[in-house]
Amino acid sequence: MRLRIGPIRIGQGWDVHRLIEARPLILGGVTVPSPKGLDGHSDADILAHAITDAILGAIANGDIGLHFPNTDPRWKDVDSMRFLEHACSLATAAGYRIVNVDSTVILEKPKLKDYRDPIRQKLAGTMNLEVSQVSVKFKTAEERGPVGRGETAEAQAVVLLEATPDSN
Ligand code: C5P
Ligand code: MG
Repeated sequence: MRLRIGPIRIGQGWDVHRLIEARPLILGGVTVPSPKGLDGHSDADILAHAITDAILGAIANGDIGLHFPNTDPRWKDVDSMRFLEHACSLATAAGYRIVNVDSTVILEKPKLKDYRDPIRQKLAGTMNLEVSQVSVKFKTAEERGPVGRGETAEAQAVVLLEATPDSN
């Protein structure tokens, strides 16, 4: 499905999942040591989900739940980087390539900054981008609200796409 509507497209994505014990904390396909991890039907990788939705938004092709319903047993505990890979292939099919991705994970603890580059590398590898095209930022919620109490974590992402040179 080729879009061919404009030379550039912007998309945004957001996700939230509950934090519980006995689940791994997986962000951008990287497992981060933590007493609590994200609960969900898939591996609940909020960062992968937010970026996937940003890409789908940029090509106006629904959202992650349209393509990967959380009622479908095929997606139980699945690696969410597969969703991201699929969104990238839809963008390519629509005649676009990613210029850059910017994202924020909002999580009270643990500290994530030591994992920034491994996460960027993993995301870039999956999206077939240079690491310099992928930004990942971290924030706490200043001990306020469900994120601040460590009950949930959130991720936000924006993505810019440009038409591939051969699309007309
Ligand atoms: O939320 P706050 O402004 O206090 O975060 C300060 C810095 O701490 C962030 O810019 C980020 O580099 C780091 N951080 C982190 N892991 C978190 C939250 C914040 O490494 N879970
Ligand atoms: Mg999700």
